[in-house]
Amino acid sequence: MSAQPKPRILFSRDEVEDKVKKLATEIRRDYLGKRPLLIGVLKGSFMFMADLIRLLDFPLEVEFIRLSSYGGGRESSGKIEVVQGLRSVVKGRDVLVIEDIVDTGLTISFLLDCLRKKEPASLKLCVLTDKPSRRQTPVTIDYLGFTVPDKFVVGYGLDWDEQFRYLPDICILEEED
Ligand code: IMP
Repeated sequence: MSAQPKPRILFSRDEVEDKVKKLATEIRRDYLGKRPLLIGVLKGSFMFMADLIRLLDFPLEVEFIRLSSYGGGRESSGKIEVVQGLRSVVKGRDVLVIEDIVDTGLTISFLLDCLRKKEPASLKLCVLTDKPSRRQTPVTIDYLGFTVPDKFVVGYGLDWDEQFRYLPDICILEEED
């Protein structure tokens, strides 16, 4: 990848909007009346989480957790750290984790294992984008937005070295000619 990669649209903002509506319908159907705890994984999930939650018109709680595994580069280091932890009690709650992308699966597996130890009543995973070709550990995704190819994906909250989060579409980074 050159120093100036260029984003190319993979899923347009309209496609993203339709997908978020579809996911919200499924989540509403499954969690209505349960007062779930939605845990967004920072930073990449912030835009997805904000749009999703606005479509969930029933009582729920919102939390964020921040993990670090990439250290500013593009390859997962496999070493995951909790940079900002949870304040809410997880025991006995219906927990839904909201993640931007599952790549190797190492980050989300680490988080789900940590949460499972806290004995939630239920634990499910909602993911905006899935890159199954790079998986190193199996991950069950309960609510999935898009499957993406083995390319670096940015936009709609996803970054490349803190760039491109602001893009309203989900894009692939390509080398500039
Ligand atoms: P994993 O542990 O390899 O599954 O990586 C998960 C984390 O790596 C995600 O939460 C993202 O922060 C980051 N990541 C992996 N692939 C991409 C990508 O294509 N674009 C942006 N971030 C990515």
